[in-house]
Amino acid sequence: MSSIQQSFKNFMDWVDERLPVTETYEKHLSKYYAPKNFNFWYYFGIFAFVVLINQLMTGIWLTMSYNPTGEGAFASIEYIMRDVEYGWMLRYMHSTGASAFFVVVYLHMFRGLMYGSYQKPRELIWLFGMLIYVALMAEGFFGYILPWGNMSFWGAQVIVSLAGAIPFVGEDLAIWVRGDFNMSGVTLTRFFALHVALVPLVLLVLVVLHILALHEVGSNNPDGIDIKKYQDKDGKPLDGIAFHPHYTIGHDLPGIVLFLFVFCVVMFFYPDGGGYLIEHANYEPADPLKTPELIAPVWYYTPFYSMLRAATFPLFGLDAKFWGLVVMAGAIAIPFVLPWLDKSPVKSMRYKGWGSRIFLALFVIAFFVLGYLGTVHPTPAKTVLAQVCTGIYFGYFLFMPWYTRVEKTKPVPERVTD
Ligand code: HEM
Repeated sequence: MSSIQQSFKNFMDWVDERLPVTETYEKHLSKYYAPKNFNFWYYFGIFAFVVLINQLMTGIWLTMSYNPTGEGAFASIEYIMRDVEYGWMLRYMHSTGASAFFVVVYLHMFRGLMYGSYQKPRELIWLFGMLIYVALMAEGFFGYILPWGNMSFWGAQVIVSLAGAIPFVGEDLAIWVRGDFNMSGVTLTRFFALHVALVPLVLLVLVVLHILALHEVGSNNPDGIDIKKYQDKDGKPLDGIAFHPHYTIGHDLPGIVLFLFVFCVVMFFYPDGGGYLIEHANYEPADPLKTPELIAPVWYYTPFYSMLRAATFPLFGLDAKFWGLVVMAGAIAIPFVLPWLDKSPVKSMRYKGWGSRIFLALFVIAFFVLGYLGTVHPTPAKTVLAQVCTGIYFGYFLFMPWYTRVEKTKPVPERVTD
């Protein structure tokens, strides 16, 4: 051992006696045994992590030049875009990052649906994941208001005034949230505080809990097999490999490079994504007297926006707006109970029956159709389509206890297959 190595070892011994750094490194990286058969779908957790770091870093830098007031916000964004050195790049990294976050998180969640990663013993991982998703939606919503463009203003106006549909307390609640009788600079400043302080803090805590819960029970895999069943004499799973360096260097790093390449292409060449990533109306300053031609949220909320608009008739004396709110809140809430709806004896779609496959396929199609419908003006035919797709969305969850129980499953192999 060279003298440098010896000094490093002495230093680490000194640290380890006071803080378990080596033990933590081994538990979560070099001796965390992940299944050998991770595939393409296992990239998106780490991509979400990369985007999270991008958002935090660029967000901090943007905050240095941004002015969170009704009078100054729009102009400060122009200032960042034109005068701050590389300000345009910071802003586009952040705005492209917001959409990238949702792309990777949706694919990450879809992987969970496909391989039953929410099933016992991974219920908590899923629950923390769902809380992350809700926090992410809040983060995106508050962030979208900050440029104080016309879509920021009107989008927030529509969503916050939805609270007004709640009987008895609704109107007061909307005023409390806005801090004013209408959307104003007061609202902008408080949403800024939530966007840069509270929600990121909550997100970070949730991500740590998500990973701790994952490492407690171990990762699932495309076969849905418990790899801890077969171990060598040292207790190392036969179908597992050390997460570091095998997955970090051999799997995640090349994936991250490719991901960043695609990210850069979008960021440098299509930063507004044809109006889907940054809507055209947001290039105009907020104007309470000028409603944009079409008020639509950013693409990642549009499936839920469609479900909100799909409720078109009053019921039990309460108006359609209230029921729209109930349907939208229900659509966000129902995946929380997924681990208890799936009664299948197997985890992975590879071994589930046709019922699960057909319902998952219909669910994905309905989600895409709802996403599209949320970006266009409603017509009577489109509203009926949105109602059918809303039915399919809920049907996927509500019928799950039935179709996962009655369908014929395939035998699950003892060891991982590829
Ligand atoms: C900031 C957002 C998120 C980050 C950084 C994140 C990170 C991760 C990472 C690094 C893993 C392990 C690697 C992998 O399996 O891909 C993982 C696993 C997992 N995540 Fe997330 N995640 C996020 C959001 C979510 C959401 C929204 C859900 C679902 C509601 C979710 C559900 C899961 C599940 C079920 C697993 C275990 C998968 C398995 O073992 O097969 N995650 N997450």
